[in-house]
Amino acid sequence: MHILVTGGAGYIGSHTCLELLNAGCTVTVVDNLLNSSRVAISRVEELCGKRINFIKLDLLDIDGLRQVFAQHLDVRAVIHFAGLKAVGESVEQPLRYYQNNLIGTLNLCQVMAEHRVKHIVFSSSATVYGTPETLPILENFPTSTTNPYGSTKLMIERILQDVHISDPGWQVVLLRYFNPVGAHPSGYIGEDPSGIPNNLMPYITQVAAGKLMELRVFGNDYPTVDGTGVRDYLHVVDLAKGHVRALEYTQKQPGVFIYNLGTGMGSSVLEMVHTFMEVNKINIPYRIDPRRPGDIAACYADPSLALRELGWKTEYGLREMCRDAWNWQKNNPDGYPEFE
Ligand code: NAD
Ligand code: UFG
Repeated sequence: MHILVTGGAGYIGSHTCLELLNAGCTVTVVDNLLNSSRVAISRVEELCGKRINFIKLDLLDIDGLRQVFAQHLDVRAVIHFAGLKAVGESVEQPLRYYQNNLIGTLNLCQVMAEHRVKHIVFSSSATVYGTPETLPILENFPTSTTNPYGSTKLMIERILQDVHISDPGWQVVLLRYFNPVGAHPSGYIGEDPSGIPNNLMPYITQVAAGKLMELRVFGNDYPTVDGTGVRDYLHVVDLAKGHVRALEYTQKQPGVFIYNLGTGMGSSVLEMVHTFMEVNKINIPYRIDPRRPGDIAACYADPSLALRELGWKTEYGLREMCRDAWNWQKNNPDGYPEFE
């Protein structure tokens, strides 16, 4: 089956391309390389010995997108990763986030409809649950958002649901990721954030590498096991496999499908730091700082629907996440090279 992957050169996209190729799919990637490297695509190809059809294109270029679909008439489904994803940046540049994420998605859906490609898997986020009243989080919990990035996710979910209402032949899959971390165990592909990382795991690995002095732990007065924030971290390879399962399961049945992809287990910041130190035998200096504005105390999934319907559950634990994140950082201290 031929799958079009938007944002396939990025962190989650590159790992998913590898799983798709391993599952026997043909893969075309469309990415503007705004937050990624062409080298990620070559490395995926090397890892599995198969080719990816890579097209450098911005989703805002609807005519370019039309050409892609016209040249690849056998595309059966789209996995839509392309988007901007930094919460803080979205507060500073809301118009850019709405423009890129919403218009990019509208263009994509428009061209898919023109070509009668009606199967889409969308990268949503646990951020659509806002501040949950109880834990673990189920898919039918109320949704709300606190920043423009989260709002784009929720708006896109609604747009896709409306597309399905207008034409019930569509298969719409909304995957709500919890906190993806780690890297492929080969250490060959991984997360390559530009500038100082916002997220916990890449920050820890850069402290471990000596590129950053110390970790700032944002708050130790939350009502959690040790006062630090609790999240549901999942290995990016498990997450990538979730996309393949979701595509397979929804292949023959139209509808809107929503799944939480997480482990179902919450871990605190300090649990993460201590596991990283123990597994990799490296000290991570840290200090306690005030809470980060907008953060919630705890967030973890009830992933049982994904298990029941997709037969998907995570296989890697926190130790493997820490091992593989460090393995990637160690082997690629400056991320992907410009050329290879
Ligand atoms: P990423 O930045 O590594 O990948 C996104 C890719 O999309 C990049 O390669 C970027 O160049 C590309 N892109 C952005 N705008 C584009 C456009 N207009 N046209 C073409 N390409 C464009 O991010 P990621 O971590 O791999 O995340 C993938 C998706 O999953 C995103 O939609 C993100 O919001 C979502 N998500 C990520 C997380 C996380 O913690 N990483 C959590 C929940 C949801
Ligand atoms: N944290 C620190 N120090 C840091 C970075 C993070 O203590 O330097 C703490 C945070 O306060 C939080 C936890 O580590 O308690 C995780 O923070 P991340 O920034 O790694 O992840 P978030 O849960 O805040 O957000 C991530 C993505 C969002 C996405 C959300 C749910 O950044 O885009 O997961 O999927 F919406």
